[in-house]
Amino acid sequence: MSIVVSGIRATGQLHIGNYFGAVANFLRMQEQDQCYFFIADYHALTTHPDPAALKANSRTVLAEYLACGLDPEKVTLYYQSDVPETSELYMLLNMQAYVGELERCTSFKDKVRKHPENVNAGLLTYPVLMAADILLHKGQFVPVGKDQEQHLEMARNFANRFNHFYQTETFPEPYAYNFSGALVKVPGLDGTGKMGKSEGAANAIYLNEDPAAVKKKIMRAVTDSGPTEPNSPVSEPIANIFTLMGLVSQPETLQHFQSAYADCSIRYGDLKKQLAADMEQFLGPLRERIKEFSANQALLDKTALMGAEKARESARKTLTEVRQVMGFR
Ligand code: ADP
Ligand code: TRP
Repeated sequence: MSIVVSGIRATGQLHIGNYFGAVANFLRMQEQDQCYFFIADYHALTTHPDPAALKANSRTVLAEYLACGLDPEKVTLYYQSDVPETSELYMLLNMQAYVGELERCTSFKDKVRKHPENVNAGLLTYPVLMAADILLHKGQFVPVGKDQEQHLEMARNFANRFNHFYQTETFPEPYAYNFSGALVKVPGLDGTGKMGKSEGAANAIYLNEDPAAVKKKIMRAVTDSGPTEPNSPVSEPIANIFTLMGLVSQPETLQHFQSAYADCSIRYGDLKKQLAADMEQFLGPLRERIKEFSANQALLDKTALMGAEKARESARKTLTEVRQVMGFR
């Protein structure tokens, strides 16, 4: 049984990218591993949310985790901020993290480019906080999407550096994980790049989005002018639609449209209508469950309380060991 740790930032509703990049793996792993899944509400602070929004977003992620099928009896499900040991380990690990390597991190450079007015120290040390989340439970596998690969590499570096400096084997090396073998990048609807909350509302399909809105977004997804000769290469926007189809449609459906592309008989209107219908098949039941869990405050509270207790127990053990190794009384 391996130790698995992962989290999603409390910045809003979950989308299809979060589901297939992260949550689908959580569901598999909860059946076989010792899992710690949390709502990364500390990480959400880098963009300075107002308290009401932070609270609402955190609650949404918890309700959606449950709606997706995470079972709080099988996994430890908690709010990051309910486990203050996280911040202690974060502070201690900061001493092993070099400013140069943090500045070279791709996600940091991206944020600096996009928001030069808000380059706070929390943004710089984001990967250290993430490493603390993982190492707090001695995590070995971390189900995340492709975009998190570099953060995991940094977490391994911090773990190894700590072990080496203190001549211990306190931390295992954590690895990014997806059950299909390769880490996934779910594309958005705008023709390029990944689906994400920050890429504009039309780019992402949310788990709790109403059917008409989902259909409208899909029908407006970027395409190209169509294949001009048999077996022509597939452009990025069309490849992206095929990728989304691969996630929610039957394999024969995808094959049908791929063949139609190859022999130039494809009609993008039909392709999108089919994707919208299959997406609804997937989202419909999920939407109902999100509604149920969102309305059950007592259950959300009970889940968070139970999760915090279990997470703190594991965290305290690690911190006791870390403090001893480092030479604290
Ligand atoms: P977002 O990128 O929308 O802000 P988060 O950063 O909170 O979402 O991501 C939470 C988890 O979902 C991470 O494991 C991340 O890798 C995964 N994820 C987010 N978007 C995608 C995507 N388009 N494809 C695959 N995984 C994704
Ligand atoms: N950085 C991750 C993201 O943006 C969220 C996250 C925070 C995380 N701490 C984590 C993921 C620990 C895995 C493990 O998606």
